Amino acid sequence: MLDVVPVMPVVVIDDATRAVPLARALVAGGLPAIELTLRTPAALDAIRAIAAEVPEILVGAGTVVRPEQAKLAQEAGARFLVSPGATPALLDAMAGTGLPFLPGTSTVSEVLAVLEAGFTEMKFFPAEAAGGAAYLKAIASPVPDARFCPTGGITAATAAAYLALPNVGCVGGSWLAPADVVEAADWGRIEGLAGEAAGLRG
Ligand code: 3PG
Repeated sequence: MLDVVPVMPVVVIDDATRAVPLARALVAGGLPAIELTLRTPAALDAIRAIAAEVPEILVGAGTVVRPEQAKLAQEAGARFLVSPGATPALLDAMAGTGLPFLPGTSTVSEVLAVLEAGFTEMKFFPAEAAGGAAYLKAIASPVPDARFCPTGGITAATAAAYLALPNVGCVGGSWLAPADVVEAADWGRIEGLAGEAAGLRG
């Protein structure tokens, strides 16, 4: 799950009709994955549209905060799930779908709890506010089994410092699909941002 793209575009979408051209622009830029956050009423429809019309992109659901959302997202076509935190019920629900998923963590104890539950890949959130790349670097030695997708406050300028760490597989961020650019349907701009991010690793 962490090795699909170096940068996971995290999208808050208000208008589901923008989803398909947005997904196509990301693919054209070299980023064949998209995380639609379940923060807006349009999110599940957006997942449904992308799953139906842009099969070449790996579409997932983010901001899964209630156990029942895991199944709803899967039914809409999500092929992976991401949560900002992890409770035992949320872990059970996400694991129960059989989909790959990234449970959110931000402390060492939370990381250990997710490892104890049997999962080694997780989100680190909110990355910048919770200690940033320095924090992940500091826990790589004591907790070597955990691998992360840090997300939250990361930008094009700070992504590379995370990607250089051995315990980071990818980073996530919303800078790839700024609301005003999506609103303006400037798909060329999205493709350009995706192209820059795609080149951040190898
Ligand atoms: C997320 O849900 O992963 C974050 O809200 C994305 O964080 P960003 O908007 O600061 O990139």
